[in-house]
Amino acid sequence: MLTMTWHDLQLEGAKLPEPSRLVADDPLSGRHPTSHERLSGLPWDASYYNGPAPWDIGQPQPAIARMASEGGFAGPLLDAGCGTGENTLLFASLGLSVVGVDVAETALAIARAHAADRGIKVEFAAADAFQLERLGRRFETVLDCGLFHTFDGEERPEYVSSLALVTEHDGTLYVLCFSDDGPGTGPHPVSQEELRAAFSPGNGWSIAAIEPDRIHTRYHDDGAPAWFATINRM
Ligand SMILES: C[S@@+](CC[C@H](N)C(=O)[O-])C[C@H]1O[C@@H](n2cnc3c(N)ncnc32)[C@H](O)[C@@H]1O
Repeated sequence: MLTMTWHDLQLEGAKLPEPSRLVADDPLSGRHPTSHERLSGLPWDASYYNGPAPWDIGQPQPAIARMASEGGFAGPLLDAGCGTGENTLLFASLGLSVVGVDVAETALAIARAHAADRGIKVEFAAADAFQLERLGRRFETVLDCGLFHTFDGEERPEYVSSLALVTEHDGTLYVLCFSDDGPGTGPHPVSQEELRAAFSPGNGWSIAAIEPDRIHTRYHDDGAPAWFATINRM
């Protein structure tokens, strides 16, 4: 278990974020920083302070929109690490019962503002993906769009256990992550073997498919190589 707190990071001289209207004193709300936050020296929330983040394309990821149009998502649905909520908002606009969760309060505030602007009724909540059971709910479908690949090998087992606690048996988890199958790989590329090791029958998962796809970003003309994995909860 990680023991470093945000206070420790500050003592180590890490870059400090711009002050946030929403996250004043403790940008981590008492949780431990993730590997990504330790590496960057910034809380996830800071990604949303100065205009759209690189992954924030202002619309659902095309791979997710395609799967949704094929009826791949059933409610109740969880969007884990929803960011500014474009995928969550798509599901809600299709009439699905969905909650988008994230640790970044600023992203959640932007998501709620989008929902209000577009007249979409949807739920966004602050929650740590390592402690999803605290939601006290279970979901038929879970989406991870760009979250799994931000966790290192030490974090993944804890995250996968957390997902297992909130996914109904026979429910479906979709993971869209950067792949190692270049050229032009994005940050945090993941191999098929890493996906299969993380979601194994031994810990209650069965991988139905891992298909090559793209993750669109603000910096790639046609997206970066990705895996779109369909994973069943046993
Ligand atoms: C690469 S972004 C993807 C955002 C969104 N899914 C999208 O497609 O635009 C990863 C998101 O995961 C969130 N995140 C990172 N660690 C988290 C954690 N432990 N619990 C919940 N959300 C987390 C970040 O704040 C960020 O919004």
